[in-house]
Amino acid sequence: MKITKICCIGAGYVGGPTMAIIAQKCPQIQVTVVDLNAERIADWNDEDVNNIPIYEPGLSQVVAEARGRNLFFSTEVDKAIDEAQIIFISVNTPTKTYGKGKGMAADLKYIELCARQIAKIAKDNKIVVEKSTLPVRTAEAIKSILDNTGNGVQFQILSNPEFLAEGTAVEDLLHPDRILIGGDETAEGQKAIQALVDVYSNWVAPEKILTTNVWSSELSKLTANAFLAQRISSINALSELCEKTGANINEVAKAIGMDSRIGPKFLKASVGFGGSCFQKDILNLVYIAKSYGLNEVADYWEQVIIMNDHQKKRFSNGIVQTLYNTVADKKIAFLGWAFKKDTNDTRESAAIYVANDLIGEQAKIAVYDPKVSHKKVLADLDYLETRSSKKNEEGVQSFENPYEACKDVHAIAILTEWDEFAQYDWQKIYNGMQKPAFVFDGRNILNASELKKIGFIYQGIGA
Ligand code: NAD
Ligand code: UDX
Repeated sequence: MKITKICCIGAGYVGGPTMAIIAQKCPQIQVTVVDLNAERIADWNDEDVNNIPIYEPGLSQVVAEARGRNLFFSTEVDKAIDEAQIIFISVNTPTKTYGKGKGMAADLKYIELCARQIAKIAKDNKIVVEKSTLPVRTAEAIKSILDNTGNGVQFQILSNPEFLAEGTAVEDLLHPDRILIGGDETAEGQKAIQALVDVYSNWVAPEKILTTNVWSSELSKLTANAFLAQRISSINALSELCEKTGANINEVAKAIGMDSRIGPKFLKASVGFGGSCFQKDILNLVYIAKSYGLNEVADYWEQVIIMNDHQKKRFSNGIVQTLYNTVADKKIAFLGWAFKKDTNDTRESAAIYVANDLIGEQAKIAVYDPKVSHKKVLADLDYLETRSSKKNEEGVQSFENPYEACKDVHAIAILTEWDEFAQYDWQKIYNGMQKPAFVFDGRNILNASELKKIGFIYQGIGA
């Protein structure tokens, strides 16, 4: 099948960048990204390409190149569905906050809405691609909706999970470790797989395109995220032991990472992992395992989350303890609010939970993050519903300048590993602080010996 029109439902952190790269690499295909959120679409269409709603290094240049040529952002969902041969579903699949599976299962209501809308609109055969991360066997439910509510046309469902990481999305999309496509083993299924393979083949080498059955593909995405998060919880668990024994977690990570069977990546001890994916996807995996009665499997993976929560808590407790067991009315600067560097995304960022704990201890938080607005900081705290918005507003301030944020504070906590933090004039920061001047480096990015030489009391993770 010759593909000339693609539609993607969901203009978020995945839909936006993924479709921008497809459009850039396949100028012969018209790519339309649609979303119900009109404000988000307006931002994607902003004349100044630097105002697109997602900050990713290199993304605005890609959008500038393709937008208006063969990349379009629109709220006209029905029209885009009608015209496209391939429809990607890239909507959010958050953890359920109500009913059965609350706090664990993936909320599939947005996925179901998409399926129903596609069924209603489609007047010719379509390939529907699960780009969102979904529980294994979701394709079955989507197929049932499409086949039972549609207009009698044929649908092929493919699973094509996205492995990009935020902050490096463009690079990851241009040079993926692999593209995974799961589909039916029938002749029609294989034809649909081939159509999607042909799209990616415009820039991805054939040996990097892996095809499987639908269930393996769906489950591989949850598994990949569970393995990645597990490495972080493993190294973080050992960081606590390092702090008790005189071992240094950076040295331990290097020593084990040189074993080619273990490998060096994803062994950076931290204040805890954040982001919209790891926690949600592991909870989902745990829920699925439990729903099949596999309690040992569920408990095994749940421990990754328990450890991560412990690591965040341990960081805030450490600050309180070190500051003589009280932070009441003390100002503490947070360098970083995003869940990792090079993104403006704050979902599940460790900073939110650490700030929440410290505000609970009546500390005053002064935030500086190069890409996160004060409005976002407040919204993140309000979302936890720990206290009133007014109380959150009293507890946290944001600054445009890091030196201003660090003025008169008792302590500085590093929550995100933005490169610029290591480049600051730390002597100048020290001079403006209350004494003793404490630094809690939740990312182990600062030069500990230099800071100590200046006079800081420095505490990293795992040493
Ligand atoms: P997001 O919240 O940034 O974007 C989702 C968008 O879908 C929103 O703009 C929302 O308005 C829109 N939407 C929801 N229902 C809709 C509907 N019925 N019609 C039209 N638009 C609708 O989410 P995201 O971070 O892009 O994640 C999307 C999926 O990709 C999730 O399943 C996630 O697990 C997965 N994923 C995310 C990442 C990541 O790094 N963020 C990486 C890999 C996979
Ligand atoms: C993750 C997966 O990496 C990606 O493949 C998937 O598609 C989406 O989920 P993302 O959450 O965007 O991507 O970023 P990632 O680089 O995985 O970082 C997640 C969190 O783990 C961040 O808070 C990061 O700071 C933390 N982290 C990462 C560590 O604490 N230590 C590490 O060694 C690596």
